[in-house]
Amino acid sequence: MSQPLSGRVALITGAARGQGRAHAVRLSAEGADIIAVDIAGPLPSSVPYDSPTLDDLAETADLVRANGRKAIAAAVDIRDIDALKGAVDQAVGDLGRLDVIVANAGICCPSPWDQITPQAFRDTIDTNVIGTWNTVMAGAQHIVDGGRGGSIILVGSAAGIKMQSFMIHYTASKHAVVGMARAFAAELGRYNIRVNSLNPGAVSTPMGTGRMREALQSAADDYPHLQGMHKPLLPEGIAQPEDIADAVAWLASDQSKFVTATQLSVDIGVGYV
Ligand SMILES: NC(=O)c1ccc[n+]([C@@H]2O[C@H](COP(=O)([O-])OP(=O)(O)OC[C@H]3O[C@@H](n4cnc5c(N)ncnc54)[C@H](O)[C@@H]3O)[C@@H](O)[C@H]2O)c1
Repeated sequence: MSQPLSGRVALITGAARGQGRAHAVRLSAEGADIIAVDIAGPLPSSVPYDSPTLDDLAETADLVRANGRKAIAAAVDIRDIDALKGAVDQAVGDLGRLDVIVANAGICCPSPWDQITPQAFRDTIDTNVIGTWNTVMAGAQHIVDGGRGGSIILVGSAAGIKMQSFMIHYTASKHAVVGMARAFAAELGRYNIRVNSLNPGAVSTPMGTGRMREALQSAADDYPHLQGMHKPLLPEGIAQPEDIADAVAWLASDQSKFVTATQLSVDIGVGYV
């Protein structure tokens, strides 16, 4: 039986672990070959959780191959547009085409407003905004050249829909991602390329672990009136990466062929106001 993404190729950034790995596993299970990009090494020092490794990225590639699809893994920093373009050009040359981009890589370093350093602000914008833009710039022309249309999914956050306290830089970066998706949608629509942002709430990944929780809790302790403003509407408060991958699979497939320039929230209702 033909699968929804049979014969297609997807570029996924931040694919070494967490949501990016879940997207690689899911899209390959639906028939796509995968170009898996990740820094797979030290994240900026402002990031309060562990960095992924080359082994993590290799494990994602193995999981894709276990689904019977091809995987090309590239350890690349999305802030480096030349390196990213080089890796994507080579992988698309090897796999023959590109149909889907999932710009998923991102960082988050929570702090109260007066403790965010210029370096942390710059790291967040460089990765989440410039890196996302670099990803589209490295891949979109290949989709245009294929002449078959495609789907570009920019991973934002509930913090791109409403404000997230103790994350001014992250909130600014994810609002930029939401706007970037809409703006790219306007110009790429003529090539039948759809561009949407996908905005998760809390997801159980390494980003939400370690010193991240302590950093958020210590900020919240100083601002008791802000506690409770990110409560979910549904009983379950945290999604699994596979729950977000369900939405990625839908946006990547022809089932969403008339969906573009939208911001899809999979956030358990935290972004409702
Ligand atoms: N976890 C959450 O609660 C949550 C909520 C909303 C949105 N998000 C967003 O979802 C996306 C995926 O995050 P996750 O939860 O899987 O976190 P994660 O930290 O587990 O995975 C993110 C991946 O991005 C990679 N990455 C970061 N900077 C990079 C760079 N410069 N170049 C290449 N790769 C880089 C990391 O190495 C990592 O493997 C991010 O954009 C994040 O902002 C996460």
